[in-house]
Amino acid sequence: MSRTPADGRSEGLERWRGRVALVTGASAGIGRAVAVRLARAGLRVVGWGRQIEALEALAAALADHDFAWRRVELRDVEAIRAAVAATVASHGGVDVLVNGAGIGFDAPMVGGDPEAWREILDVNVLALALCTSLAVEDMRRRETEDTRAPGHVIHISSMSGHRVPRGNAMYAASKYAVRAMTEGLRGELRGLGSRIRVTAISPGNVATGFAQRFLGDAFVPPPYPRLEAEDVADAVAHVLGAPDRVAYHDLLVRPAEQPT
Ligand SMILES: NC(=O)c1ccc[n+]([C@@H]2O[C@H](COP(=O)([O-])OP(=O)(O)OC[C@H]3O[C@@H](n4cnc5c(N)ncnc54)[C@H](OP(=O)(O)O)[C@@H]3O)[C@@H](O)[C@H]2O)c1
Repeated sequence: MSRTPADGRSEGLERWRGRVALVTGASAGIGRAVAVRLARAGLRVVGWGRQIEALEALAAALADHDFAWRRVELRDVEAIRAAVAATVASHGGVDVLVNGAGIGFDAPMVGGDPEAWREILDVNVLALALCTSLAVEDMRRRETEDTRAPGHVIHISSMSGHRVPRGNAMYAASKYAVRAMTEGLRGELRGLGSRIRVTAISPGNVATGFAQRFLGDAFVPPPYPRLEAEDVADAVAHVLGAPDRVAYHDLLVRPAEQPT
């Protein structure tokens, strides 16, 4: 969707052209699709992940665009700090942060493995919180002297932040935490008089490697067409392109036929 400024609305993604987007989880699935969408729209994208071959392949696919990647282990707090600092140094700052990385072990309450619980919380909650905090610090530093669109933080959350699927309590707990952090950050930013926006996007079932990665052979595809990662990337593009006066807070995006 592209609108002209003359009608008092925004220019969609156009106004972010040349700005810097940091995308975590860019090596696969939704994060990868978001990195592609934003790079093709003219943003300068820095993609983080761990699978070097996947990141190199993405860089090759985006060879005609402004794309850089970095290997970052999100369970390592110091690695996150160093990687944000390096991104600010190399690109001048972070204008858009898309927290696309996430994990979803089958980690039930009864008989669940505390190490799996910890890993879910480390990646889905603590790493997301730290990436957000550091990026917002940088956005705030530049906000007063830069009259362009203020920064935007987008969390790829989940429908599991809105209801609890059986057997996935800790994953759902992590996504409920994302929901709380979205509301909390919004409140803090408004209290600070900042124009930085924060949005959660909560997809239902998406056809990425996510479920197989954690369920292995136990994974059974649902009997309805799942969302494509690109559908979620479209939602990211839509919220980023909204006029400054509009703050999408939490966008629930289900496959049309998903029952829950
Ligand atoms: N797929 C779905 O059905 C679905 C539905 C709702 C919400 N979501 C949410 O969407 C987000 C992305 O999911 P997806 O479907 O794109 O999954 P995916 O295809 O498995 O991709 C997950 C990404 O997260 C990265 N990541 C995981 N652990 C990491 C760690 N410790 N350090 C650094 N990077 C790490 C992975 O990097 P490496 O592979 O390089 O390690 C990968 O790039 C997640 O937050 C998930 O909860 C997914």
